Amino acid sequence: MTYQSIASAPPTDQELNALVAQARLRNQSVGVTGMLLYEDGRFLQTLEGPPAALSQVWSSIQRDERHEDIELLSEHYVEARLFSDWDLLLYRKREQAPPSLWERLRRRHPLNQYVKGVVRDAFDANEAGLGELFARLASSGWDGDELVRELIEPAARAMGDAWLADDCTEFDLTLGLGILQMAGHAVRYAEDVESLRSKTYSILLAAAPGEGHILGTSLLADQFSDAGWKVEMAFPTSDEALANQLSAQQPDAVDIGLSDAITRQGRIARLRETVKHSRLVMPDQALVVSVGGRLFAEASATAEHVGADLSRQSLAGTRLRVAELVAHAKSVKPRE
Ligand SMILES: Cc1cc2nc3c(=O)[nH]c(=O)nc-3n(C[C@H](O)[C@H](O)[C@H](O)COP(=O)(O)O)c2cc1C
Repeated sequence: MTYQSIASAPPTDQELNALVAQARLRNQSVGVTGMLLYEDGRFLQTLEGPPAALSQVWSSIQRDERHEDIELLSEHYVEARLFSDWDLLLYRKREQAPPSLWERLRRRHPLNQYVKGVVRDAFDANEAGLGELFARLASSGWDGDELVRELIEPAARAMGDAWLADDCTEFDLTLGLGILQMAGHAVRYAEDVESLRSKTYSILLAAAPGEGHILGTSLLADQFSDAGWKVEMAFPTSDEALANQLSAQQPDAVDIGLSDAITRQGRIARLRETVKHSRLVMPDQALVVSVGGRLFAEASATAEHVGADLSRQSLAGTRLRVAELVAHAKSVKPRE
């Protein structure tokens, strides 16, 4: 059967995702498959399955107050399913599409224009203003990864450069990064990637021992939590302290972060020791180790330099790469 309807109010991405997630669970349990198209305030849905199950779902749909003017377009018996692999396939056309990759390559990234203002607000401790800006950009279609990669990370580096140029004290820098970090909680990460979502994977997010800049560690915490991971954080003062926390928590992965604002030259040797120490804690298990910070983002250092499995170029996308490494580690060496 196929019907069309009008959304009572245009759903946000989150509302649409929630609707589909709920619908998928139910469709799966009763053997219904199909697709849902959402565009400009209108729904078009095709559903297929055993008649009894279909009529049960159909009466729920007709009762649902999130849409109105429901009009049945066709209903007939079919030999085989069209959407046999899909509990409910969602097509969505965004009202305000984010710029295409081509557009982004062609000109300077449009988010770059906000970097200066973000730096100013962070140094002025205008957390509310920053939070509003991030929320506004998110509601006009920018996804969390893009906000992190094109706005928050460049702002952190610009702040680090201001400190290097003696335009502020290290105290100002650390405080400003803290403001940016708190405002960063307004950024949300919509996930369409099933492989990433996990209720069973766990990660320990640690600042490198002695590192006072924890912007990256904190933003990663939001990203992994949004993906359903079990997340613990650590701000250890020594390799031993980190090792103790690892041995208590036995996570699947650990991320060790240096400053996102300044390049901590000369920290490679020490970080290599930290990574080595961490691996010794869980010798029988494959612990995935990732490292990050401006030192790695700007390619002067690599994962191999410190014995890690991954060095992140950006906070954006890190969770996906870690998820792949954890899945691989588990498949090679299953844990009991
Ligand atoms: C546009 C639209 C499409 C929907 N598609 C489905 C669907 O495919 N399967 C489903 O079980 N429910 C679907 N629903 C209905 C809701 O998810 C419904 O709230 C849920 O099934 C719970 O049903 P109940 O109110 O009878 O408990 C849809 C709702 C809307 C507004």
